[in-house]
Amino acid sequence: MLIRNRRGWELPESAATPENVFLNRRALLKGMGLGAIGLSALGLSGQAQAEDELIPTADMYPAAPNLRYRVERDITEEDVNLTYNNFYEFGSHKRIYRDAQDLKVRPWTVTIDGMVKQAKTWDIDALIRRLGVEERVYRHRCVEAWSMIAPWSGIPLQKLVDLAEPTGNARYVRFETFLDKDVASGQRQRWYPWPYVEAVTLAEARNELPFLVTGAYGKPLPKQMGAPLRLALPWKYGFKSIKSIVRITFTDEQPTSFWEEINAREYGFWANVNPKVDHPRWSQATEEVLGTGGKRVPTQLFNGYGEFVADLYKGMEDQRALYM
Ligand code: MTE
Repeated sequence: MLIRNRRGWELPESAATPENVFLNRRALLKGMGLGAIGLSALGLSGQAQAEDELIPTADMYPAAPNLRYRVERDITEEDVNLTYNNFYEFGSHKRIYRDAQDLKVRPWTVTIDGMVKQAKTWDIDALIRRLGVEERVYRHRCVEAWSMIAPWSGIPLQKLVDLAEPTGNARYVRFETFLDKDVASGQRQRWYPWPYVEAVTLAEARNELPFLVTGAYGKPLPKQMGAPLRLALPWKYGFKSIKSIVRITFTDEQPTSFWEEINAREYGFWANVNPKVDHPRWSQATEEVLGTGGKRVPTQLFNGYGEFVADLYKGMEDQRALYM
């Protein structure tokens, strides 16, 4: 499918994210005495949920940090992360945090099916209690060349793979986001191939890094970050880290992901971070670190996670498609 409608991340960063608007907004919030505390009072931090949406697993946060996954740079301020998001279901701009509050995240179920011993639909909190959560600090690098450092809480994907018991022929794991155009106005835009879909190989899913995120900054996950369950694949461009998952399917066929279906030449299946392979329309050599007043740093191969994942791609290194 070839879509010529311009998307947020096709705009130059300066146009997509007028930093002065962002800074002015922060200054305004500060002036109103609404820093991070103000955002949670507005229900944006995941702490202040409507009463019918209380999170039964809220007592599990903050989760114990797993110090194997640390980052040498400073963690991005919570209010920066809360107010700068990609979640096309709620609009193709970065300020979707208010609209995303319409998403009802309890009750919520996740279906695990396909090539598994037995398909099952889980209540999200039963799944979280069953598998347990830990905290990991991960780099998060968007294909648009901005980055953050996020303290995620969640479940190693490995644990869910073990729980699912895939059968011998399973080769890929496919993830799917909710579909509800009454709640998510972006899903009324029919030129997008909803629902949002992403996938990894089973070998990638069994790696230690993929993380099913259920919380951030020591609390249950805010809606704009993909509550109640999103993926974090820190060595891949951020679009692979699918939000608000309702279905996880084990399959023998390589799934086509959302952005790949829209434009495979620009957003491939693998999407491993590589500063030497430019996006067809911009450089990937450096990235803007959000919350640092526009500071740029060099981008690292596999976003700095080569020691964990390079082995997955042994013998494939020269394939340009691995990095788009
Ligand atoms: N998942 C869904 N369902 N819808 C989306 O639009 N955007 C992706 C990814 N997951 C997206 C999604 C992109 S492009 C990025 S960079 C990250 O989410 C952004 O995550 P963040 O908002 O927590 O920074």
